Amino acid sequence: MINMEMKISMLDMIMALSAATDLISPFVSGHHKRVAYIAYNLSKQMGLPIAEQEEIVIAGALHDSGALSLEERLHTLNFEDDYPYLHAEIGYRLFKDFDHLTVSASLIRHHHDRWDIRGESTPMGSYILHLADRIDVLIDKNREVLGQIDGINSQIEPQFGHMFMPGLRDAYRALAAKESFWLDIIFKPLNDIKRRLSLLEPMPLNIDSLSDLTDIFRHIIDFRSRFTATHSAGVATVAETLSRLFGFTEQQCHMMKIAGHLHDLGKLAVPEEILEKPAELNVHEFNIMRSHTFHTYRILESVKGLEEINEWASFHHERINGKGYPFHYKGSELSLGARIMAVADVFTAITEDRPYRKAMDKNQAIKTLNYMAVDSLDGDAVSTLIFNFDKINEERRHVQSLAAEEYDDFQISSAE
Ligand SMILES: [Fe+2]
Ligand SMILES: [Fe+2]
Ligand SMILES: [Fe+2]
Repeated sequence: MINMEMKISMLDMIMALSAATDLISPFVSGHHKRVAYIAYNLSKQMGLPIAEQEEIVIAGALHDSGALSLEERLHTLNFEDDYPYLHAEIGYRLFKDFDHLTVSASLIRHHHDRWDIRGESTPMGSYILHLADRIDVLIDKNREVLGQIDGINSQIEPQFGHMFMPGLRDAYRALAAKESFWLDIIFKPLNDIKRRLSLLEPMPLNIDSLSDLTDIFRHIIDFRSRFTATHSAGVATVAETLSRLFGFTEQQCHMMKIAGHLHDLGKLAVPEEILEKPAELNVHEFNIMRSHTFHTYRILESVKGLEEINEWASFHHERINGKGYPFHYKGSELSLGARIMAVADVFTAITEDRPYRKAMDKNQAIKTLNYMAVDSLDGDAVSTLIFNFDKINEERRHVQSLAAEEYDDFQISSAE
C-alpha cells in the first residue's frame, strides 16, 4: 500500500530532469551532468561551503533546461558567441518560484555572464558555471581527452579577466593539472558528486513539493510546442479525477496527478519538427516518437520511491491486448493506475487539436473510446469516463485553458 511518508530525493529528481533534457541530441548528451561535475570540482577547489557547492551542482545539472528547442540547445555549444542567451533567463523563470531552487535559479540566470561586462555584480557560482560550461564544450567527445588538455588550456587561460572571473584561475590550473579530473569528465562524472552530496542527503521532497517540482517538469516538457503546450495539464487532471471516481485515496490521486505531469517526459528526446509536423508521421519519425515512453520509464527508474508513479506514467501507450509499446505488457500486467492513465491520455489527445487534425467532438470521442475499449483500453475506466463525460471534459477544458494562458505569458515574456 502507499507510504504516506513518501519522501523523494530532490537530487534524484533534478538528475532525472537533467538527463531528460540532454536526450534532445547526441551532441548535448551528458552535457548537464559533465558541467555539474566540473562546476562541483571548481567550487570544492575554491573552498566554498557544502551548501553552496550543492546549489552550484544543481544549477549545473539544469543550466540549459531553458533552451527548449533543439536549435537553441545546439547554439549553446559555440565557444564564443554574442547570441542573446535567452535560455539562461527562461531557465531562471522556470525554477525561481520553487522554494528549494531559488538560489540555483539565479545562478542559472547568469551562467553566460562575462566578467569584463558584469564584474562583481554576478555571483561567483554563475562564473563557476560559465567556466565549467565552456570547458565542456571545448572537449571533443570523439577523441581521447588527455591529448586535448594543452589545446583547451590555450583557449581558457587568456579568457581569465575577460570572459571568466580571474579569481577562478588558480582553481582551474590546479584541476587541469590532474589527469583524473579530465578522465572523470568523460567516464564517471557523477561518482564523486554523489558520494560527497549523499553525506548531506539534500532535501527530501514530500508529496506537495514533489507535485510543485513536477509541475515545472510539465512546463519544460509541454512548452516546446504550442501543440503540446497544454497536454500534460489535461492528462494530469483527467487521470486524477478518474482515479478519485475509482476510490483511490487522496494521496494516490495526488500521485496520479504527478504521474500525469511526468508521463511524456521522454518527449524531450523528440525534435520539435516531429511534434509539430502538420501531417501523419512517417515510419522513421514515428519510431522516434514512440521511443518517448521508454525514455520516461528508464529515466524515472533512477528515482528511488517513485516506482509506482513511474508505472502509471510510463505505461500509457501499453494496451490491454499487448499491442501497445514499448514493453508489450498486457491484461493484468497493467495496474489500474496505468490503465487509467492510458484512458486519460487517449481522451485528452483526441479532444485536443493536433498539427494534422482537429479535436474530436463528444460523439466522435465517445465512439473512439468505445471502440478502443473492446480490447485496447480498460473497459471500466472508459465507461466511468463516458458516464461522467461532461464533467470531466469541462475540467479538462478549464485546466487546459489555464495552461494555454501560462504558455502565452511564457511566450510573451521570452520575447521581451
Ligand atoms: Fe547555457
Ligand atoms: Fe551549457
Ligand atoms: Fe505519450
